Amino acid sequence: MKAFCKLLVGLSVLLPLQGFGSDAGKGESIFKQRCTACHEIGSKLVGPALKDVSKRRSASWIIQFVHGSQKLIKSGDKEAVTVFNENNQVVMPDHSDLSDADIQNIVAYIEKAGLQVAANIPAHNRPAEAQSNEQPLAFSDYGFWALYGIFAMLVIVSLRAVVVAVEWSKRE
Ligand code: HEC
Repeated sequence: MKAFCKLLVGLSVLLPLQGFGSDAGKGESIFKQRCTACHEIGSKLVGPALKDVSKRRSASWIIQFVHGSQKLIKSGDKEAVTVFNENNQVVMPDHSDLSDADIQNIVAYIEKAGLQVAANIPAHNRPAEAQSNEQPLAFSDYGFWALYGIFAMLVIVSLRAVVVAVEWSKRE
């Protein structure tokens, strides 16, 4: 029993460490060398946007797909066939030289970058941001009132001129 308890304690320490073992920094450099030609995190390029890929696929599926996507597609894997067809059947090259840990690091980077994408890009501009230069007219807009005054004077003067001209023409 004692040994069993020790084993449990040992496992509970080791299991979370497995997750922490992923290194997003290493993943980022591999991703930038090998994947950015076709993938972005937040938008589709040649291949699909990879944001949230670890939510829609299992870790082992991602590893198999990156190692040999065509093998998985030809085996009839439903998800692989669907994503292949959705991307005009463009063949993703195999990356069989990457280790499982490399791919887990890439996934860790995708998760991290996905959070940044979600935080930085608002779905749409709020009105205050879209029209930040527009302000209601105020009494302190002296330039506007001065122009308005000059324009009003011009209108009055020209109307007066018309009246004078009409009176002149009647007099003759
Ligand atoms: C030459 C272009 C190209 C490169 C390079 C590439 N991919 Fe892909 N990737 C694709 C295409 C296209 C798809 C869509 C599936 C298909 O057509 O086979 C895809 C699909 C995927 C998927 C499945 C996405 C989903 O929504 O299920 C993953 C995961 C993936 N790629 C990861 C990677 C990783 C990681 C790398 C770098 C090691 C990489 N890809 C490099 C073109 C590429």
